[in-house]
Amino acid sequence: MEFKRKDILDIEDLSCEEINFILDTAESMKEISTRDIKKVPALRGKTIVHFFHEPSTRTRTSFEIAAKRLSADTVSVSASGSSMVKGESLIDTAKNLEAMNPDVIVIRHQSSGSPHLIAQRIHPCVINAGDGAHSHPTQALLDLMTVREKKRTLEGLEIVIIGDIAHSRVARSNILAFNKMGANVTVSGPPTMIPLAIQTMPVRVTYNMKDALLNADIVMALRIQKERISDFLYPSDREYARFFCLDSKALSYAKPDVMIMHPGPINRGVEISPEIADSPRSVILSQVENGVAIRMALLYLLIGGSYRASDH
Ligand code: CP
Repeated sequence: MEFKRKDILDIEDLSCEEINFILDTAESMKEISTRDIKKVPALRGKTIVHFFHEPSTRTRTSFEIAAKRLSADTVSVSASGSSMVKGESLIDTAKNLEAMNPDVIVIRHQSSGSPHLIAQRIHPCVINAGDGAHSHPTQALLDLMTVREKKRTLEGLEIVIIGDIAHSRVARSNILAFNKMGANVTVSGPPTMIPLAIQTMPVRVTYNMKDALLNADIVMALRIQKERISDFLYPSDREYARFFCLDSKALSYAKPDVMIMHPGPINRGVEISPEIADSPRSVILSQVENGVAIRMALLYLLIGGSYRASDH
């Protein structure tokens, strides 16, 4: 199929066919990262700006590595290092970056909708690397890739997402992505961390973690998004962990081969215990590895030519 998109803003914009095409492309790109010389000329002469207005380890580094493995030139702009600290607006900043003729702007921002606003106002492709509590489409794609790789298909899988659903862009994007690809999704967490709008989403809700875990094929733990919480939603990390930490006791209620995921960063002993995070059931670092392949695929599909990885 031909991939005809200017931007990657939300997972819900993508059809199942497009998602499968991105995952297939990422699977073929993954091999490049295992070579001695981890570089192909697919995006030679292209320029990618990484504009991160919020902290990031995985997303920022994997986009940067993905672009470099495809031979693109990359520039990183952080909030504290940009002239936004002198009062320049987001749109003016984006228009000025556009004036330097990049091919793609990858943006992470704390305000929901920022990448969408920018995408309407500039010509280069825009990729949403996470906007507020709204959307994280590339995380959803790398999680789909990891599930498909380990379980072959998402069709009929029981996937449970546990934790701070209300403030998590990963939760929202992954619920939509897993559901779209045929899985059944359950969410669980403290009632104060499950949004009322969950009723409009294709999920089952339970506030009891044991109940959530009983039939799960896959469990994803989420970090409490403290940077987005201003209210008093839970007494303490310790109290939260008593009820919602994914530890061996909690997992004794799940199937023995349940697969454990977490988008990172993890807070050991709060939403996941060290022995579970590091156990053979955990695919957390596979998720990170697949993040590079997914971002290579997206950059290539948006601005690449007729390159084929197998030819190089
Ligand atoms: N999963 C994720 O988005 O991690 P970072 O915040 O480190 O990019």
